[in-house]
Amino acid sequence: MRPSPLLSMWGGTNISLSLGFFLPLLLVQVVEIVDEYQTACIPSSYTNNDERVQYIQDVNTNKLCTRTLTVPKHMKQPIFVYYQLENYYQNHRRYVKSRSDKQLLNGDSTSSTDTETCKPEQFLGELPIIPCGLIAWSLFNDTYSFTSGGHAITINKKGISWKSDREHKFGSFYPQNFPNNLPNNQNGSLIGGASLDPNVSLNENEDLIVWMRTAALPTFRKLYGRIDQNLNAHTQLSVQISNNYNTYSFDGKKKLVLSTTSWLGGKNDFLGVAYITVGSFCIFLALAFFLLHWKHPRPLGDTKYSLSRGHKVGKPVAN
Ligand SMILES: *[C@@H]1O[C@H](CO)[C@@H](O)[C@H](O)[C@H]1NC(C)=O
Ligand SMILES: *[C@@H]1O[C@H](CO)[C@@H](O)[C@H](O)[C@H]1NC(C)=O
Ligand SMILES: *[C@@H]1O[C@H](CO)[C@@H](O)[C@H](O)[C@H]1NC(C)=O
Repeated sequence: MRPSPLLSMWGGTNISLSLGFFLPLLLVQVVEIVDEYQTACIPSSYTNNDERVQYIQDVNTNKLCTRTLTVPKHMKQPIFVYYQLENYYQNHRRYVKSRSDKQLLNGDSTSSTDTETCKPEQFLGELPIIPCGLIAWSLFNDTYSFTSGGHAITINKKGISWKSDREHKFGSFYPQNFPNNLPNNQNGSLIGGASLDPNVSLNENEDLIVWMRTAALPTFRKLYGRIDQNLNAHTQLSVQISNNYNTYSFDGKKKLVLSTTSWLGGKNDFLGVAYITVGSFCIFLALAFFLLHWKHPRPLGDTKYSLSRGHKVGKPVAN
């Protein structure tokens, strides 16, 4: 029996494993504010979901809503602003396929075979829709703006989408015949969500690019923007929400999230940092043990350091 090398290996493995788990948690202290607003942002006279849908679809109702949030702990910039939708099945088979990646990249409006997959959002009247498909058509259209103590807090919307999406999946061309840009029911249009600025090309429209990266689960967060300043504990934030998006017809929840960590959808440093930390630590431990062994080699089978040496036959523990 050679307990000593075994013991030290076992101890080392234990230490590195537990540090591997807890180090990332210690490194990244997450502060998060979550505000569910889909009910609070509808006047209380609209009691059931049918009435709420009517309220949302009526262009004449005032959709502005002010929420007050308190920062619980100091939040270090960058602070990510997300919207979180629940009970929203972006992964539904018909929905997730209703897009044309070819069109998104090349802007080809002539070949309808390229937009075949976009049905039922393929044509507006006779004209091809760019960008076509249900996903683009249902683009999220709530907006948020923040003030604190009377001062506006800027939301930076640049760089919220994946760079690879902007460069390799979306082309530099402009929306055309987009149904949400017309008044409801003009030329067969039906409003599904946000309109698209005809002067902003698809590869510059980061909200659209973020939305088009469909979520795999019915509860998901999407990056809305970034606040590039620190927020002190107990700061009162006043949020103006434009409560436009219809989640009422399917009983979906809407939440506004402010968080100090990045989630999938933006760039995600967290996993990278965690892996690098744990990896470096393992390498460091391996080197340390190697050096120890090299400086103080211990002959195999030497039971001098073993805990159980005192129990050897013929050797009393103390005298
Ligand atoms: C609606 O359709 C009519 C007739 O097809 C056409 O003249 C008009 O330009 C269309 N309007 C829009 C905004 O596309
Ligand atoms: C926002 O989207 C909803 C559908 O979810 C639509 O009914 C509403 O008219 C849109 N409002 C604006 C201002 O885009
Ligand atoms: C788009 O640009 C044109 C010319 O620069 C301008 O006349 C038009 O108002 C712009 N449209 C929008 C929606 O900003």
